[in-house]
Amino acid sequence: MSEGNPLGFHRRWILLKPPLRPDSQIIAAYRREVEGHNARVLLLGVTAELADIGDTTVAVDISKKMIASAWPGDTEKRKALHGNWLDMPLEAREFTAAIGDGILAGIEFPQYQTFFSQLAKLLLPGARIALRLYETPEPGETVTMVRDQTMRGKIAGFHAFKWRLAMAIAAETKQAAVPVSAIHRRFQREFPDRAALSAATGWSLDVISEIDAYDSKPMIYRFPTRRELLAHLPDSFANPRFAASGDYELAERCPLFVADIPS
Ligand SMILES: C[S@@+](CC[C@H](N)C(=O)[O-])C[C@H]1O[C@@H](n2cnc3c(N)ncnc32)[C@H](O)[C@@H]1O
Repeated sequence: MSEGNPLGFHRRWILLKPPLRPDSQIIAAYRREVEGHNARVLLLGVTAELADIGDTTVAVDISKKMIASAWPGDTEKRKALHGNWLDMPLEAREFTAAIGDGILAGIEFPQYQTFFSQLAKLLLPGARIALRLYETPEPGETVTMVRDQTMRGKIAGFHAFKWRLAMAIAAETKQAAVPVSAIHRRFQREFPDRAALSAATGWSLDVISEIDAYDSKPMIYRFPTRRELLAHLPDSFANPRFAASGDYELAERCPLFVADIPS
């Protein structure tokens, strides 16, 4: 998945913070979860912060621009490949773990079978996956609840706000898939006065204008509930569980989804 923006997501990436981008506590959570499984890591995406969790790492990303701008460069221990997770540019069953940050937001339920079977064929018996989620809670919030919390200054970060708004739309429509254009439209309707929003939250107008990256853009993000994710998980993965990824704002909705290939 990549966010639309006049600047381009790959150039704006460096500005992002949790919950969108991993910080030290999220990295520590990944390390904890793949400990003992990190000899040969398959990284989904080119998240630089996760590039050295493996003794060796192979990253796969569909965007040449992201590989060129976000990946910290190939070394003896790590390399990035251009390819699609749904049709992996790899053959050998050689990985002890697969990790990825927010990646299920870019995959729709009908593709889960293909996605997870592509992973399963590359993972050794006993391998582990750890994928940080953007999880819609149950029961979810309504958009009105998010608006009220926002205008009372109860949401600290703009990105946490954006994800809460998106998850409230998912909960109201009972659809994990939320087009970013719908997030923008709903934002415009609920927060017509940006100066008032800025005064209530402390977010600058510049920060608030980040939402305009979604205006009329075609991307669709998915914010599944835990139950939806588990219902679509193929049998090849055992012992699915959810591990905390830190205490940043909205961390409780961004757990690491962990599961194992049976030995
Ligand atoms: C790692 S994910 C999510 C990163 C971040 N935490 C977020 O929420 O925006 C974003 C990356 O996934 C890549 N990507 C999306 N769909 C892909 C696919 N089907 N195959 C390979 N890479 C894909 C994009 O090019 C982008 O670099």
